[in-house]
Amino acid sequence: MYEINYKPYRIKVVEPIKLLPRAEREARLREAHYNLFALRAEDVYIDLLTDSGTGAMSQEQWAALMIGDESYAGSRSFFRLEKTVQDIFGFPHFMPTHQGRGAENVLFSALVRPGHLVPSNMHFDTTRANILANGGQPVDLVIEDAYDPEECHPFKGNIDLRALERFIDSKRREQIPLIMLTITNNSGGGQPVSLENIRGVSKVARAAKIPFFIDACRFAENCFFIKEREPGFAEKTPLEIAREIFSLADGMTFSAKKDGIVNIGGLLAMRDESLFECCTHQLILMEGFPTYGGLAGRDLDAMAQGLCEALQEDYLRDRIGQTRYLASQLKTKGISIVEPTGGHAVYIDARRFVPHIPQSQFPAQSVVVELYREGGIRTVEVGSVMFAKRDEKTGEEIYPRLELVRMAIPRRVYTQEHFDDVVDAMARMSDRRTKIKGLRLTKGVGPLRHFVAQFEPL
Ligand code: F0G
Repeated sequence: MYEINYKPYRIKVVEPIKLLPRAEREARLREAHYNLFALRAEDVYIDLLTDSGTGAMSQEQWAALMIGDESYAGSRSFFRLEKTVQDIFGFPHFMPTHQGRGAENVLFSALVRPGHLVPSNMHFDTTRANILANGGQPVDLVIEDAYDPEECHPFKGNIDLRALERFIDSKRREQIPLIMLTITNNSGGGQPVSLENIRGVSKVARAAKIPFFIDACRFAENCFFIKEREPGFAEKTPLEIAREIFSLADGMTFSAKKDGIVNIGGLLAMRDESLFECCTHQLILMEGFPTYGGLAGRDLDAMAQGLCEALQEDYLRDRIGQTRYLASQLKTKGISIVEPTGGHAVYIDARRFVPHIPQSQFPAQSVVVELYREGGIRTVEVGSVMFAKRDEKTGEEIYPRLELVRMAIPRRVYTQEHFDDVVDAMARMSDRRTKIKGLRLTKGVGPLRHFVAQFEPL
């Protein structure tokens, strides 16, 4: 499909980074209580904590900042963004928000009430937490293959349509205020959802008269996978695929910090006018006036530009190519990763990397800590720290089925040499992996505990 492989940018501005000596890294780990969210970024050599808000903006985006219009109401920047949003996503109503969770909070505070259930393929942490905060229950209905790190399904982010239908049939319609779908599925390995599956969800939602919203954080990457893997889409552009995807939905939440390639920003968009009015009230209360929604005017301009760049084919080929490069090099060192490689990140299967550490001792977090110790590299745990929960009746800890270390790749930031350093550090660790020890949680409760939790080495 993409015949010509070339690097579609060069570097114009540099940001110095350094690798601290090992003894200092050890001291920083102790001070951070073995939670890498508590490190100072300047103590990190290669930062793969997240791909969110960490991308490098293009010269056109920096130029767009200069022409941003900072008027409180009706700014030129808003109308530029509106034109772009309508061109790509096609929703008649939208509002900017300060980031993705701002959009989630506005939408859920308008729609979700105590006792409500919100099915999705898989909710990400903030989405889950925002539903819970409004008294609702998030429900994950991703296909069974998603839980097998070795299974090579091309669209491992798909929702189980039969399970969704059964779920709707078993509840009262009023209990389900919306159906969601996360593209790509971040919690399950950055895996895409097929257009056929999106069409299926749309059909089920329309038949049941339930609004269907897409969590569109990494929609451009999802379009790339559809183009590459789904029959009938090879000749379509990512933009054409995006239009088709969103024509099937009633609305979307979006963190522009991912496929908007900006450092801050988000969107909430929808078709329904009365829901839009209700969300507008919430927006003014929590985010800002509807033509800026918690952002500066210049942020809106940079987002409009970034959205267009994220859909360019040479950009996407290079971006997914970086993820694939890191994954393939790790595999040559015998390191088990989630297959197939996702869009924004490589996920190490900690269960297979450190099988001697039980889930009660946080195997994935132990690998995250060890990789900083070994190479000054910051990654994030997507496992028991993030998703384990206590059964309210029995008091027993329920552990998630996946225990992953996510190496998220910032957009247009690192070079192949950086990824080679990551691979070398992982290979050195791998040689002595049986000696890696687990951790004890000393502090941290609730669905967002991973941001603030503290640990002790065992
Ligand atoms: N939905 C998904 C699928 C996400 O991955 C994120 C953020 C959000 C919603 C919330 O967006 O951060 O702008 O409020 N994910 C980041 C990550 C933080 O590291 O994966 P936000």
